[in-house]
Amino acid sequence: MAKPRSLVAGNWKMNGFSESSAELNTLEGMIAKGKPANCDVMICPPYTLLASFAEAAKTVLVGAQDCHTDDSGAHTGDISAAMIKDSGATAIIVGHSERRADHGESSKLVAEKAAKVIEMKLTPIICVGETEDERDAGKTLDIVLDQVKASIPMQATAANVVIAYEPVWAIGTGRTPTPADVQDVHAAIRKTLETRFGEAGKGIAILYGGSVKPSNASELMSVPNVNGALVGGASLKATDFNGIIDAYRK
Ligand code: PGA
Repeated sequence: MAKPRSLVAGNWKMNGFSESSAELNTLEGMIAKGKPANCDVMICPPYTLLASFAEAAKTVLVGAQDCHTDDSGAHTGDISAAMIKDSGATAIIVGHSERRADHGESSKLVAEKAAKVIEMKLTPIICVGETEDERDAGKTLDIVLDQVKASIPMQATAANVVIAYEPVWAIGTGRTPTPADVQDVHAAIRKTLETRFGEAGKGIAILYGGSVKPSNASELMSVPNVNGALVGGASLKATDFNGIIDAYRK
């Protein structure tokens, strides 16, 4: 099984207005003019911008940040994977730690959401990661591998799923694990994927997320089994995000 295709995905979280399409256009321009990058590039804007971004995007892929487990129905305020597909997006982040923390989402629910994303023939980007307390207690691998096992649905194949390892304490804090720590966790996730999917598990992209920025992207992206980044804050400005993509222009 070939090495996974790398992916640099921007998670805009609850940021962005209609005028933000200028940022997308700037990024598209930088990608068109720059050296070709050996990775896919994705932006996951808020729901309100999905359709317009999907319409305007040329090379950049568009993803959403969450979805409901049902296709439609009486769920005020929720959005289904079917609606997201209809908007033109091709991927959906599920199980982000902010959803797990703010909305009490369990790995079981995350797996149900991911199953629906797969059913819609979209790609789930399944997020896992330990809190600082869990890390300090030496439980990082236990927590992360439990989340990986419980959040990947039965319907998953190596071809239709992406994993993102995001230590909760590194998100939005400017702090990152050492490359050696990232390597250990990604190697353990890879092993778990190979146990589950056999040789094909080698082809699943495992992204690193948490305070990725232009100045640390090259180092983090060169760690074995790191196949891209899930980027929050530094994805909002095209120049910063493009600086992260540079890690794949070497
Ligand atoms: P950050 O967020 O890059 O701002 O740390 C990453 C994420 O939450 O996906």
